[in-house]
Amino acid sequence: MKPQTPPKTYRVKSFGCQMNVYDGERMAELLGERGIEPAPEGEEADLVVLNTCHIREKAAEKVYSDIGRLTKAGRAAGKEPMIAVAGCVAQAEGEEIMARAPAVSMVVGPQAYHRLPEMLGKATRGERATDTDMPAIAKFDALPSRDKARKKRFPTAFLTVQEGCDKFCTYCVVPYTRGAEISRPFADLVDEAHRLVDAGVREITLLGQNVNAWSGENAKGHTIGLDGLIRALAKLPDLQRIRYTTSHPNDFTNGLVACHAEVDKLMPYLHLPVQSGSDRVLKAMNRQHTADQYLRLLEQMRAARPDIALSGDFIVGFPGETEAEFDATLSLVDEVGYAQAYSFKYSPRPGTPAATMGDQLPGEVMNERLQRLQASINRDQLAFNQASVGRTCDVLVERRGKHEGQWLGKSPWLQSVWFEGAAEIGDMAQVTLAEAGPNSMRGEVRERAPA
Ligand code: 5AD
Ligand code: SF4
Repeated sequence: MKPQTPPKTYRVKSFGCQMNVYDGERMAELLGERGIEPAPEGEEADLVVLNTCHIREKAAEKVYSDIGRLTKAGRAAGKEPMIAVAGCVAQAEGEEIMARAPAVSMVVGPQAYHRLPEMLGKATRGERATDTDMPAIAKFDALPSRDKARKKRFPTAFLTVQEGCDKFCTYCVVPYTRGAEISRPFADLVDEAHRLVDAGVREITLLGQNVNAWSGENAKGHTIGLDGLIRALAKLPDLQRIRYTTSHPNDFTNGLVACHAEVDKLMPYLHLPVQSGSDRVLKAMNRQHTADQYLRLLEQMRAARPDIALSGDFIVGFPGETEAEFDATLSLVDEVGYAQAYSFKYSPRPGTPAATMGDQLPGEVMNERLQRLQASINRDQLAFNQASVGRTCDVLVERRGKHEGQWLGKSPWLQSVWFEGAAEIGDMAQVTLAEAGPNSMRGEVRERAPA
């Protein structure tokens, strides 16, 4: 590879989960610290970071087509961008990417991106660099502090508290791409939360692949779980809202349930994936819980916080799933009445046990089941929104709407709410929910507390 001019502008394109969004923000901060600026809207960037996802579908193919598109656009504009592939595809297929895509200068895994600046140095000298080490915690220590790095004032932020997964669900690549579970230290998290709040953040979403498996030692040296962390963060006066995602049913503690009853700043929303309503399928997935155990946990949750909005993840068409087993999923959905839920067609991931199980289902069966499941979920989502009409609640204003004087934000139940009136980004507006759509609500503003 030829030596390359040091980049002046960058663009980070993040795919997949919120953890990738967080990682993407941190990479952007890291580049910003080196004096590299975000590329203006509509302009080609000197450096493009493709922050990839490997969880489903032909993610790797998408990466190659993105690389092809970037090089073509670059050639047309007279300058080819420097390309870095980051994220879980980089972790899983780093060597193949280097071999197949000569335009790529850097391949960096999710646990190694703090080394991006060094790699950038190599790339400018014309050396291609790959780093897919997993030194877990070191990454967070090496990243710039977030108050300095966070240029754009935005009222919500993600905070990664835990990474990796030890559950080994048979369909899932996460334990391989993100590695074993690690928890970031309590003091570091409190410090990062402080800095975010000082930079204007009012809502923090604690992130982890298994966020409720987080554990740490508090200032007194006592071992605490996610509930203890939430209670500690709730003490930050200017932090108004706390959320967390994603949880595994088996790591749920009574303490966390109690938090939902007792900590006002913890929002009444829970994303708790179940994947299937059939115990046979759950067993084959190695979920290590039954449908009934999951339902009982949700009952406990509703007893603690009656207005809680529930969300989940589902996979249709897992190998061997029968029509009756799929019906069990539909029944579970009917029973829960989700405020929101995500559903996916099963996608065999190389290296996972389910990929080599017999009885992989045809695409048409999966498509048809997905449609039926999504119809149920959409029906329940609309019903949840309709049942919210008339409620008065706080809306944290996140952005301007399409039209002058329109604002968009989130209700405590994570509904997107828009309203008209005087407001600013970062305001907590008191809004009466007036009209329900399938994906958003119209509100009428009562009062607003300035940012
Ligand atoms: N195929 C389809 N969906 C998957 N998920 C994880 N792995 C796969 C796979 N191989 C879904 C699960 C998980 C969400 C993040 O992605 O529902 O909860
Ligand atoms: Fe994947 Fe299961 Fe771990 Fe979730 S709990 S990240 S689905 S292995």
